[in-house]
Amino acid sequence: MSSFADRLLAWFDDHGRKNLPWQHPITPYRVWLSEIMLQQTQVETVIPYFERFVAKFSGFASLAEAPLDEVLHLWTGLGYYARARNLHRCAQQVVAQHGGDMPSDMAELEQLPGIGRSTAAAIASIAFEQPCAILDGNVKRVLARYHAVEGWPGKSSVHDTLWQFAEKHMPRERCRDYTQAIMDLGATLCTRANPQCEVCPMRRGCKAKKTGQPQSFPGKKPR
Ligand code: ADE
Repeated sequence: MSSFADRLLAWFDDHGRKNLPWQHPITPYRVWLSEIMLQQTQVETVIPYFERFVAKFSGFASLAEAPLDEVLHLWTGLGYYARARNLHRCAQQVVAQHGGDMPSDMAELEQLPGIGRSTAAAIASIAFEQPCAILDGNVKRVLARYHAVEGWPGKSSVHDTLWQFAEKHMPRERCRDYTQAIMDLGATLCTRANPQCEVCPMRRGCKAKKTGQPQSFPGKKPR
C-alpha cells in the first residue's frame, strides 16, 4: 500500500483547497500572517481581515513601522488580541534581527513572538518547503483517528504520541502541499462531529473507522 503521505497528496491534488488568498502568491510574509490569524479563527472569518492587512501593510517593514494602534484597529473583531501585539513585535524582530526576511530555520522561527512549534512548522513547510510537521487541532483529530490514539490530547503523553505520528508521516518532498493537505482533510472530511469516512482517502488503514465510532477520537478532557 502507498504511504500515508502519498494517499493524502493524491487526494489533495483533486480535492484540496488551492484558492485561499494567502496561496496567491505564497510568500513568507503572507504565510506567517495567515497562520497567525488562523490560529484561533476560521478560514471564512480570516479572509477579509487578511485582505485588509496585506492591502495596508505590504510586508514586514511596513507592519513594523506602523503604530500599534493601527494594527489593533485592523485586528478589531478577530479576537485574541495578544496575537496582534505579538504580530507587531514579530515584524519588528524580523526587521531588527533578520534584515527584514523571515528566517526559514525552525529554531529561529520558534524564537519569534507568537510562533510556537506548530506555527513554525507551518511556515517552514508552506513558505520554505522544509519537511517540518505541524500539529494543530485539525491534524490532532486526523492522527488520533487514523491511529486510534486513546486519551485526551491535552495530556502530555498523548500529545507526544501525536507529535511522533505527525513527524513520521511528514514526507521529504511536497512538504507545502502535504501540510495544506492534512489540514484540509481535517477541515473538510475528518470533521469533529460528522466525519465523511466513506469518501475519505485514508479510510483503508484508519483504526478509528474500524471501531465504528470515529467521533469518539480524540478523547475528551477527563472530568
Ligand atoms: N488553518 C491553519 N492554517 C491553515 C491554512 N494554511 N489553510 C487552511 N486552514 C488553516
